[in-house]
Amino acid sequence: MATYRKNPHSEGEPGDEPGEPANPDCLLTEIDHVAIAVEDLGAAIDFYREAFGAIVEHREVVHPDGVEEALLRVADSYIQLLTPTRDDSPVARYLERKGEGLHHVGYRVEDCAAAIDAYRAAGGRPIDEVPRPGSRNTTVAFLHPKTSFGTLIELVEEAAPDVGH
Ligand code: CO
Repeated sequence: MATYRKNPHSEGEPGDEPGEPANPDCLLTEIDHVAIAVEDLGAAIDFYREAFGAIVEHREVVHPDGVEEALLRVADSYIQLLTPTRDDSPVARYLERKGEGLHHVGYRVEDCAAAIDAYRAAGGRPIDEVPRPGSRNTTVAFLHPKTSFGTLIELVEEAAPDVGH
């Protein structure tokens, strides 16, 4: 039997329409970003532009985290290039210990606090016990890699759309 996906124009099943979640019960609604720690943000941005034509959509220094980030859009997600702005930043320590590379995965959620609760109920250990402000006016929480199969997870709740002026 054929196992490929149904014709997207057919009726009915969840996940048939582009952008519609295949599993409406899943708290994770999208890969928000894949974060990559780099030593030289400018060089990494240039590389992604030259190699893939990816361009920076947003750039921000996140002072509490001691990082500068550049977001390069890929479809409805981002590549987040991340570099430390001071020596005691967690990303500086990460680069010292492990070198450049994949740092964390950001999953988009509807409700950050509810997702932290669900993670904790499943035995996970949040780094952020309560949601806090992230870049781009998002609300975020980091979850410990030791209780997430070795991957630092960031939950990302987008700001409510600005309705009119
Ligand atoms: Co992030």
